[in-house]
Amino acid sequence: MTDNTPLCDIGFVGAGVMGKNLILNLADHGYRVAAFDLDLQKLEAVLAQDTAERGDQPPRVIGCSSYTELLSRLSAPHLIVLSVPAGKAVDDVCHKLIDAGIQADDIVVDTGNSLWTDTVAREKSFEGKFIFFSTAVSGGEVGARFGPSLMPSGDPYAWTRIKPLWQAIAAKVDPATGKAIERFEPGNPVTEGEPCASYIGPSGSGHYVKMVHNGIEYADMQLICEVYQVMRDVLGMSALAIADIFRRWNEGPLHSYLIGISAEVLATKDSETGLPLVDVIVDKAGQKGTGLWTAVSSLQLGSPAPTIAEAVYARSISALKTERVKAATVLAGPAQNLYSEAQQAELIQMLHDALYCAKICVYAQGFHLMKTAAEEQGWQLNFAEIAKIWRAGCIIRAVFLQSISEAYERNDELENLLLDPFFSKQISVYQQNWRKAVANASLAGIPVAALSSALSYYDAYRTAVLPANLLQGQRDYFGAHTFERTDKAKGKTYHVDWSHPERPMVKIK
Ligand code: 6PG
Repeated sequence: MTDNTPLCDIGFVGAGVMGKNLILNLADHGYRVAAFDLDLQKLEAVLAQDTAERGDQPPRVIGCSSYTELLSRLSAPHLIVLSVPAGKAVDDVCHKLIDAGIQADDIVVDTGNSLWTDTVAREKSFEGKFIFFSTAVSGGEVGARFGPSLMPSGDPYAWTRIKPLWQAIAAKVDPATGKAIERFEPGNPVTEGEPCASYIGPSGSGHYVKMVHNGIEYADMQLICEVYQVMRDVLGMSALAIADIFRRWNEGPLHSYLIGISAEVLATKDSETGLPLVDVIVDKAGQKGTGLWTAVSSLQLGSPAPTIAEAVYARSISALKTERVKAATVLAGPAQNLYSEAQQAELIQMLHDALYCAKICVYAQGFHLMKTAAEEQGWQLNFAEIAKIWRAGCIIRAVFLQSISEAYERNDELENLLLDPFFSKQISVYQQNWRKAVANASLAGIPVAALSSALSYYDAYRTAVLPANLLQGQRDYFGAHTFERTDKAKGKTYHVDWSHPERPMVKIK
């Protein structure tokens, strides 16, 4: 460093959308940030915005022209945050930092949507060179700017270093109401309330939890989309009318960021045609992979998350637009019924209750998955705390998360959220409408894969005797795969000699 500028509190690599907003958020909270980006335009944009937002105060973001300069702008041990695309870019930057002279007690924090196993591998591979820590971030660009939900994990010492900064910039919740305290004003950040940034556990656990957050996000979004389609295609409602329904729902137990933005999207007019914007958006969903990772992990661990998997499939089938357009002219559906005004209102209430019950099941699946992964990995996850840090800042934020956190506070060993007395009562009250909503949609030929898979999950989970007895018989028949008997000790296995006319039972072990 050649000037007399005081050293910065934290270094940042990557001034893209998320990086820039996290940097400005840190600066709002009084931290001095040394920033580096290979793309000079991005770097200049963040410096200009910081200067503009500081007004007559000195800027808090310092631009660096190399990794070496970045290190020199920080006091040792260095604390450097990466906001670069998940994957190879993270490794590339880490190697550049090694070349620039990073030390064994320096800390590098990855904030991308990295695959959790990559994080575990990176912590090991960079051991002795620097401390690789991670913090999964949710909340999109506005969250990053004014308060994200942060899921840090890895080396506990690194956490003590970054904790004050992360807790300062994180979203805040009013402890009395469990609701987010939101203020979107540069230079006037929220400083009161409970921060949505808690240490999750050992390396990889934070990114795992964020992955499941995204799986829940996929399912939550898909459920809302299915309800929208029933209103649009069965009831013939306009985008504006559906927006009004969502706004009303947002005043009750379904209150959430995703319902709120869905109402806004539906109420927005296309600036070019004047039509509802949603009607000019092509019905092909994109995806970056975190929902898929969640579904894959649930299959690998044998912790069912069918509604999350269905949400991924729903995006895949939406992407088959050309095939669907062709099939629509060939494949028959049912005849459409006309709904009276009273029946319309009834169906809308059914959809509301269906959405609520299915949402409970999605969270039950997500939390069950995290519990199973934690047992497998030896992580001590605090589910009440995870629900708490999702109450504000993140994409799935909802009043509902307060009830989830209370459920785990009542019983931190809870096997499944569905077994919590509050949630089991909610479903018992609203399930009839859920069933009717799914039945009505199916009779009308509307795909409601997420709503109905959640219902099947609920029904399977509450069924003491599933038809897997027949399945075991089938497996034994063609593959001698053996089965247990209901009248014999657990773990003892049997096989039938299916080739023998008398089908004798053979004890295997
Ligand atoms: C968040 C979001 C964020 C992002 C995902 C989803 O928590 O802020 O989940 O991580 O929106 O990348 O992206 P896709 O829908 O494209 O998979």
